[in-house]
Amino acid sequence: MQNERGMESYDSAVILAAGKGIRMKSSITKLLHPLMGRPILEYVIDATSHFKNRVFVVRKGCDEICGLIGNRGKIAFQSDCLGTGDALLCAEPFIKGDFVVIPGDVPLVSKSTLRRLIKFHLKEGADATIACFETKEPKGYGRIIKLNGKVKIVEESDATPREREIGLVNSGIYCFDKRIFDLLKRLENKNKKGEYYLTDAISHIENVSLLEIDEKEAMGINTRYHLFLAEDILRKRILMDLMASGVTIKDINTTYIEQGVKIKQDTTIFPHTYILGKTQIGSFCTIGPFSWIKDTKIYDKSKVSFSYIEDSIIGGGCNIGPFSHIRPNSVIKEEAHIGAFVQVKKSTIGRQTKAGHLAYIGDASLGERVNIGAGVITCNFDGRKKYRTTIGDDAFIGSNTSLIAPIKIGKKAFIGAGSVITKDVPPEALSLERTEQKTIPKWRK
Ligand code: UD1
Ligand code: CA
Repeated sequence: MQNERGMESYDSAVILAAGKGIRMKSSITKLLHPLMGRPILEYVIDATSHFKNRVFVVRKGCDEICGLIGNRGKIAFQSDCLGTGDALLCAEPFIKGDFVVIPGDVPLVSKSTLRRLIKFHLKEGADATIACFETKEPKGYGRIIKLNGKVKIVEESDATPREREIGLVNSGIYCFDKRIFDLLKRLENKNKKGEYYLTDAISHIENVSLLEIDEKEAMGINTRYHLFLAEDILRKRILMDLMASGVTIKDINTTYIEQGVKIKQDTTIFPHTYILGKTQIGSFCTIGPFSWIKDTKIYDKSKVSFSYIEDSIIGGGCNIGPFSHIRPNSVIKEEAHIGAFVQVKKSTIGRQTKAGHLAYIGDASLGERVNIGAGVITCNFDGRKKYRTTIGDDAFIGSNTSLIAPIKIGKKAFIGAGSVITKDVPPEALSLERTEQKTIPKWRK
């Protein structure tokens, strides 16, 4: 049949998202498993955003999937997980003309491949087109068999050992028109899984075209191994894009950077580093090795090594680490230094302030050029409530000082090492709290 319709007639897409995902062995619905920090289904939602009419087939009662879809498409409920054939049939009331089918578990497919598929389908004048791919690991996929000008798909569990050797497999992405629904109504479930296979309907279609697409886009996620493979592809895509935009990545194998992260040119990322969420990093920074940074803004020329930072702001020219822990809602201003085994929580650290070693700074506001000695602790918690510590510009807090909050240390104040400070200290004062040292001469005879 010659298909005279144009690209614009393909404004509908059906996304099959009602499967149980048994092979993931998880109490979480498969399509909600994170892939580089976003649910698997979110990628298919992105790739199909140009379709005017999107229909998601969702298992009845799966509120989380409905919540993820929101108002981005219509929802056709499938009562029981009876197979892909039954799933597609559920979408019938929402479909008028030609449409594309995409499984919700094929997250790497791109918009341009979907457009190419429709173009090819129209050019071929086919009744149906299957996007297929050649793979060295066909396990789990439906094998494509071409016989006497017809196309048949044999599912893994029903395939003979010989058929299992076939490397040309079905991606589960198709172009159909409304006639498919009549074929789906006649499907039987006499197969190993006892499911109504969409793929069985294909052998009843006269004129089926095959378009080969890239395995890196076509792969489906059925198991945690597939999830790993997909993440590896996606992760490397993101790193390649970053490198192309001027970021140096020292080791592509051990660097994990999520899609939403922004990094400016001439920054270098050292190995074993995770950068997540909405993190933004400026120019000429060095990040890593062995660092974990989430939802944090880091300005130009800062250095972070062997450190863990979450939901914070790091000014330009800062030096964080090795082995610092910056907890949420912290602001580290320009050229400050947070060193080894220093934890900062919900605190502001002023410009050029230094906390180089073994300190805890929680619920505190530190001015500029403050010196925090080794072992300084802001004692912010009395077992019931949290209290604040304020330290003025140029103050010097001697090593091993405990500051019992709530407390204010004035500008240029000086606290002697080893003190337990319970009262506010005025600006420029020296405060120390120690028992006098006793020395007994010639005690050892
Ligand atoms: C399916 C194809 C297989 C193809 C592979 C590509 C069939 C019978 N087999 O196999 O030929 O190589 O995809 O990845 O179609 N779903 C529902 N309702 C159901 C069952 C499934 O909505 O009752 C959804 C799933 O959520 C999933 C998609 O349909 O997103 C595919 O289902 P799945 O069970 O993963 O099929 P495969 O075994 O991968
Ligand atoms: Ca699948």
